Amino acid sequence: MTTDIRALDDEQDLVAAANVFRAAMIGLPPLPDLRPGQIARLLEPGRTIGAYVDGQLVGTADAAASGLTLPGGAVVPHAAVTHIGVLPEFTRRGIATALMRHQLDDIAARGEVVASLRASEATIYERYGYGVASLSHSVEVHTARAALRPGVGAGGPVRLVPTAEAWELLPRVCAGNRPSRSGTLDRPAPWWAAARLRTESSSGPSYVAVHGEPGAESGFARYRPVGTESWFVSDQRTIVVEDFFAPTADAHLGLLRFLLGLDLIDKVVFWSLPVDDPLPWLLVDRRAMRVTAVHDETWLRVVDAHRALAARRYVGDGALTVAVHDRLLPHNCATFTIAGDGAEPTDRRPQLHARVEGVAAVLLGGASWRSLAAAGLVRADDPEALAVADRLFAVPDAPYAGFYF
Ligand SMILES: CC(C)(COP(=O)(O)OP(=O)(O)OC[C@H]1O[C@@H](n2cnc3c(N)ncnc32)[C@H](O)[C@@H]1OP(=O)(O)O)[C@@H](O)C(=O)NCCC(=O)NCCS
Repeated sequence: MTTDIRALDDEQDLVAAANVFRAAMIGLPPLPDLRPGQIARLLEPGRTIGAYVDGQLVGTADAAASGLTLPGGAVVPHAAVTHIGVLPEFTRRGIATALMRHQLDDIAARGEVVASLRASEATIYERYGYGVASLSHSVEVHTARAALRPGVGAGGPVRLVPTAEAWELLPRVCAGNRPSRSGTLDRPAPWWAAARLRTESSSGPSYVAVHGEPGAESGFARYRPVGTESWFVSDQRTIVVEDFFAPTADAHLGLLRFLLGLDLIDKVVFWSLPVDDPLPWLLVDRRAMRVTAVHDETWLRVVDAHRALAARRYVGDGALTVAVHDRLLPHNCATFTIAGDGAEPTDRRPQLHARVEGVAAVLLGGASWRSLAAAGLVRADDPEALAVADRLFAVPDAPYAGFYF
C-alpha cells in the first residue's frame, strides 16, 4: 500500500476531505449544504492535506495560522491544527502518522514556532511531540444559590446583540481585548466562519451577550438553552455557555451577573473556564458551583525550540542547561542555557534532558518540571536543576485559550 499525501485546493476535494473527517469522527452532524465557494472560507488556502491510497481520499488534516501568547506577553506564529481523521477501514496503517509528519514539516517550513490542537483522545498525539500545555474546567452553577459576595463589583453594561450582527462584532472584540495570559490564541478567520456556520445550521435558539458600551465592547458570552423539549414545565432550565470571552475583571463580572441573573434559568453550565477563574471566591456559597470536568485543553507542539524558549520570559536569577530531544524534527534538537534574562543555545553539558512534548508542557507554565521528571518525560542529571527550572518557568496566571477548534 502506498500513501500519497498532497495539499488540496479544488472545491470538490475540500468537501470530500470535510466528509472524510466527519466519517472518522462518527458523532458530528453532517456537513450542511454549502454555497459555491463557501468551503474555501472555512479553511486556510493551501493548508488542507489529503492522504490517498490507490487514488482514494482516506485521510485528512488541516491547519490555520494564528498567534500564541507566551509567558511575558510575546506572541509567536502558531498553527492551529484541526480536522485530523482517517476513514475507519484505513486506520492503523500509518496514515495519520504520514499526515502528521507532512504537516509538521510544512509548519516548520512556514516558520511557525509552535502548533497546537484539541485532542479527541489523550493517547494519540504525544507520539508526534504534542504535550498538554493548558487545562480548562467545565463548571455548573446553581443560580438559586449563586449570590455574589457584597464586596464584589458590578461590572459594566451587558446587552444582547442579534446573532447576525455578532459575527461582525465578536472578532473585533477579541482582537481589541487580547488577553495577556499565556496560552491565549488568536481565533483565525476560518474559525469564525465555521462557528457561524455551526450556529446558523443548528435549529435551536442561541444568544450573544456583549459587555461594554457600544463601540467599546470588551467581552461576550455565546449561550443557548438545552433540554428545551420540556422547557415550560422544567424545574432545571439550563443554559450552556459555549464561549465566555471575559478578558478583564469588569467584563468577567458584568457577564457573570448577567448570566446568573437571567430569569427562568436554574443552572448555568460553562463549557470552559480557566482553572484559576475567581468564580468560587466571588460566591457567598462556593458550593453553588461545581467543577464537572477538567479538560486537557491545548496540546502544544514546539516546532522551533530555540525561538520558543528565547521568546518567553523567565522569573528570578537561577540558571540551568536543558537539552531538547525531538525524534521527528532533528533540526529542533539543541541544548540551551535558560536564566532570568533569557534562553540561548549552548555547548555546555545539560543538567536536564527534555523530550519535546515535555518542553511543550512546561513552556506556558501549565505543568511543573518535577511532574514531568516523575513521569519520565524529563531526565534530571542534576536533581537540584528541577527546582531551579520550576522557579524560572513560574507564571502568574494558569495558561488558557478558552475555545475549541
Ligand atoms: C486518530 C486517527 C486519526 C489515527 O489514524 P491512524 O491512521 O489509525 O493512525 P496511525 O496508523 O498512523 O497510528 C499511529 C500510532 O498511533 C496509534 N494510535 C492511532 N490512533 C490511536 C488512538 N485513537 N488511540 C490510541 N492509539 C492510537 C497507533 O496504534 C499507532 O501506534 P504505533 O505507532 O505504536 O503502531 C484515526 O484513528 C481517526 O481518524 N480516529 C477518529 C477521528 C479522530 O479521533 N480524529 C482526531 C481528532 S482530534
